[in-house]
Amino acid sequence: MKTQVGIIGSGPAGLLLSQLLHLRGIANVVLERQSREYVLGRIRAGVIEPGAVELLREARVHAWLEREGQIHEGIGISFGGRRHRIDFRALTGSCVTVYGQTEITRDLFAARDSLSGVIIHDAEDVTPHGIETDAPWLTWCKGGASHRVDCDFIAGCDGFHGVSRRSIPANVLRTFEKVYPFGWLGVLSRTPPVTREVTYNHHERGFALCSMRSETLSRYYVQCSLDDHIDEWSDDRFWEELRRRLPGDIARALVTGPSIEKSIAPLRSFVAEPMRHGRLFLAGDAAHIVPPTGAKGLNLAASDVHYLSRAFAAWYESGDAGAMDTYSDHCLRRVWKAERFSWWMTTLLHHFPENGPFGERIQLAELDYLVNSRAAMTALAENYVGLPY
Ligand code: APR
Ligand code: PHB
Repeated sequence: MKTQVGIIGSGPAGLLLSQLLHLRGIANVVLERQSREYVLGRIRAGVIEPGAVELLREARVHAWLEREGQIHEGIGISFGGRRHRIDFRALTGSCVTVYGQTEITRDLFAARDSLSGVIIHDAEDVTPHGIETDAPWLTWCKGGASHRVDCDFIAGCDGFHGVSRRSIPANVLRTFEKVYPFGWLGVLSRTPPVTREVTYNHHERGFALCSMRSETLSRYYVQCSLDDHIDEWSDDRFWEELRRRLPGDIARALVTGPSIEKSIAPLRSFVAEPMRHGRLFLAGDAAHIVPPTGAKGLNLAASDVHYLSRAFAAWYESGDAGAMDTYSDHCLRRVWKAERFSWWMTTLLHHFPENGPFGERIQLAELDYLVNSRAAMTALAENYVGLPY
């Protein structure tokens, strides 16, 4: 088999890249380790920056998003039993769209199918070869047979645990990492959301987040210990803990119900540099991870794909390698700013027992400053709605 760009991974990064390249007449093949059902079973954050919405429009997958997505003009922040609002529209003129990442992935699969895009599922042992040459190729196994596709370039969109990043020689790759001493326990429930806007709650028992997918579907999280096991968290225990961490008026309005999904995720900040080696380009979680507190994961994957699709287009349309050569530097400038923002939001809002009473007072002072300073709120709002591409 032969193609122009071999893409590893069918998460949002791989599918969006595949679709954008196809629309520019660039042939590509996507290799995915899992089944489609598995990929669509993952539940992740659902806050989309206008830049990512624009890219989805360019990819012609905006119809459902525009119909079902909710425009959010601000977020809530609560601490000390009181809630406050950060008004994105007033502070930046911009806003975000709330639409589930699972739904985006579903829409992207549908768009690829409608254009007969090639997505090979259940591809085992996907391996990039010859990335330092002008003629790389990918091999994989499926159904007991081995397969090969020759390509001009490889896009590693295979997430944090993928094979792409590991193919870059150790003496070239630098990684930067921070692991946080807690996780997020998330619950999805078929209940009306307790707040109209996504609300971040600081509490001495730990952080809590009230989010939503629609008028009837809610998503909640509580900060939990990394030693916690999901079996120890009955629905009743979850709702009780969540309620204790919310300001009184929100807690009283909370409608509870059976969980549809419940999972614990660790929090991590991670960046790999460079994002390109030879003919291999990393995009999305393959190159960087953010803690979910700023809802930046999908948005960063989208900005990488924005730069990468343009770099490939420049090469195929005019033989210009300039944008490929600057791809890594370009992405990393934006990536590091989103890393800083996600780290800051995480540090501001979570409970860090190791910081002691002094640390707790400093956090409260910063929160108090934030909600009373237009400058501080603008800085948050600018980052939350997304820095320019
Ligand atoms: N071979 C083939 N496919 C692989 C391999 C491999 N060795 N390793 C991983 N994959 C697949 C995974 O099964 C997954 O479907 O690559 C895909 C990577 O998708 P994501 O993890 O969703 O990463 P990405 O597309 O970069 O999306 C970033 O998704 O992880 C969230 O929070 C993150 O919102 C962010 C967004
Ligand atoms: C979510 O809805 O799952 C969500 C929203 C905002 C975040 C993280 C997750 O910061």
